[in-house]
Amino acid sequence: MKTVTCTAPVNIAVIKYWGKRDEKLILPLNDSISFTLSQDDMCAKTTVTISPKFTEDKFWLNGKEESLENPRIQNCLKEIRRRASKRKLEGSAEDILNWHIHICSANNFPTAAGLASSAAGYACLVYALGQVYGIEGDLSSIARQGSGSACRSIYGGLVRWHKGELEDGTDSIARPIAPADHFPNLRVIICVANSERKKTGSTDGMRQTVQTSKLMQHRIKESVVSRMESMIKAIKDKNWPAFCDLTMADSNEMHAVCQDTFPPCVYMTDTSHAVANLVHQYNDLKISQRDINHKVCYTFDAGPNACLFVPGAVVEEVLALLLFAFPPSSSQSPAEYVRGIQAHPVTLSK
Ligand code: ADP
Ligand code: DP6
Ligand code: CO
Repeated sequence: MKTVTCTAPVNIAVIKYWGKRDEKLILPLNDSISFTLSQDDMCAKTTVTISPKFTEDKFWLNGKEESLENPRIQNCLKEIRRRASKRKLEGSAEDILNWHIHICSANNFPTAAGLASSAAGYACLVYALGQVYGIEGDLSSIARQGSGSACRSIYGGLVRWHKGELEDGTDSIARPIAPADHFPNLRVIICVANSERKKTGSTDGMRQTVQTSKLMQHRIKESVVSRMESMIKAIKDKNWPAFCDLTMADSNEMHAVCQDTFPPCVYMTDTSHAVANLVHQYNDLKISQRDINHKVCYTFDAGPNACLFVPGAVVEEVLALLLFAFPPSSSQSPAEYVRGIQAHPVTLSK
């Protein structure tokens, strides 16, 4: 028997992946960039066990047994086994490839609520499988075949997913571009407006956008390409105010193409917009105080929950403001949708 347990953190995209050019291989229409959060915050934890005594493959997610027929898990397994069999040819002893497998995974945060559970989940699964079968080399291209965003959670800090040019997707991989402390003392606050499973999953939402949105053409051909260049420069120059503006602009554009999808694919709620407004008001104040290095930025994945990137020096001030504007107990304000805003100030490291 062989067993391995791993944890993998979520990553939060600042230039979003939204739209595929190949559904099966999960090849994106544009490059994206994200921050991987710290190993001890929002994580998936996965145990993979293989044994000659198991009579069938099994999979549990968050304590519930699920089918392993899921094609995405199967694609990851197939690729891992293909690489393992190559190693076997090079002289491994046991025929462990024929043993059945048990996979048991759980997230310590809401699943399918727009908080990147598929990213942490598939990165964790592929990393654990890689350990069990002794795979070396790039794992991001395998994690990508579970969920696109998962390829970025293989690495810590700031990570770029290169969309790649090749048809077989072998150059569609993630690479770290800056360490976790690139912007020193940075914190993330996750504002949970709604922790329920979203109505339209990311996979379906982005497919509908690609099929119906004209605005998406503009995003892919022009705006996201130039924003990507500006973001790389902002990161290189450690230009925090520019990083913030580009992050918010890209989140807004992603949700604009979602709105332009027919029928519209709406993820942000009144509460989400209220959090975004609060951030802009806060930043206006900082600008008037000539304190732009203490700017805050928001980004929203395919869900209503805000991720705020906050300089450590103002994290308490921002938390106090959030709790004042969205008191967890109030029931008659927009805050009624805020299921007790949960705040996780975390250090960005892996
Ligand atoms: P999210 O915004 O949370 O990433 P998605 O719609 O992209 O939501 O993906 C949710 C799906 O990802 C789940 O329905 C499940 O199939 C898969 N998933 C989530 N967590 C895990 C995990 N820990 N292990 C394996 N698969 C997972
Ligand atoms: C809004 O990676 O969940 O979080 O590849 O179909 O599994 P699939 O989609 P997924 O999409 C993530 C979309 C996003 C933006 C991002 O993480 O870049
Ligand atoms: Co996802």
